[in-house]
Amino acid sequence: MIIVAPMTDATKTAWITGAGSGVGRATAVALGALGWRVVLSGRRADALAETARLARDAGGHPVELPLDVGADDPATAAAVVGGRLDALVLAAGLNHPDRAWADQGMAVFEAIVQTNLLGVVRVIDAALPALRSASGIVVVVSSIAGWRPSPGAGVAYSASKTALAPVVRTINDQEGASGVRATHLCPGDIDSDFLQQRPSVPDAAARAVMLSPGDVADAALYAITAPPHVRIDELVLSPLSQR
Ligand SMILES: NC(=O)c1ccc[n+]([C@@H]2O[C@H](COP(=O)([O-])OP(=O)(O)OC[C@H]3O[C@@H](n4cnc5c(N)ncnc54)[C@H](OP(=O)(O)O)[C@@H]3O)[C@@H](O)[C@H]2O)c1
Repeated sequence: MIIVAPMTDATKTAWITGAGSGVGRATAVALGALGWRVVLSGRRADALAETARLARDAGGHPVELPLDVGADDPATAAAVVGGRLDALVLAAGLNHPDRAWADQGMAVFEAIVQTNLLGVVRVIDAALPALRSASGIVVVVSSIAGWRPSPGAGVAYSASKTALAPVVRTINDQEGASGVRATHLCPGDIDSDFLQQRPSVPDAAARAVMLSPGDVADAALYAITAPPHVRIDELVLSPLSQR
């Protein structure tokens, strides 16, 4: 079900993937608190509904737009988003406990690349006309594994996230003339549902010293709310405990 919220000329619009939890949800709520219209995409409708409730309570104007970034047509979704897009936040991501050459299966490898790399590129491609119209910003939620070697992150995850750096650089090289900027956001460990995909799920003590989704949302907002002439090419943030 698509619930269309009222939009005024004064309302800025952000389209957020992975909006049903973690960083995507925290970013949606933070932008909601600034009064933005936030278009929420992910696969689980119930999770999007909860984010919408939180964003609305914060003062935002949420629109629930279920989307599988690896499988659905992003152009159809982009039509719902509208002709002007101020920010695109790509937080949808996937990993799997089987992540070494010794145990990874090709179906899982392909699903991770489909989500983390192709899912990002497909949504950007669909959103670019609306981003150009609003001199919008793209925040690609990558990973510290996309910034430096991180063997524990896995073969497919590391390969897919590392590939996001040139995705961001080429946007900045080729789309700057249209006012479009992009940020490669590389967080270290975050206490989110994502940890359930690790071979060994961290306990409460380990989670307590990690970044929170809100910490990462704050970094996304730093890039999004920077003046139009300021481009944050890359942001790396880690919990103090990260090795
Ligand atoms: N947690 C960490 O330690 C960590 C560290 C560095 C980077 N990251 C990155 O941060 C981003 C956000 O992760 P998180 O920590 O906030 O974990 P999270 O709460 O698990 O969020 C991931 C989101 O991606 C969505 N998603 C997965 N596959 C999708 C698909 N095919 N189409 C649409 N949505 C999809 C999930 O929702 P549905 O299942 O409903 O689709 C989920 O809401 C990810 O890109 C992750 O790689 C995480």
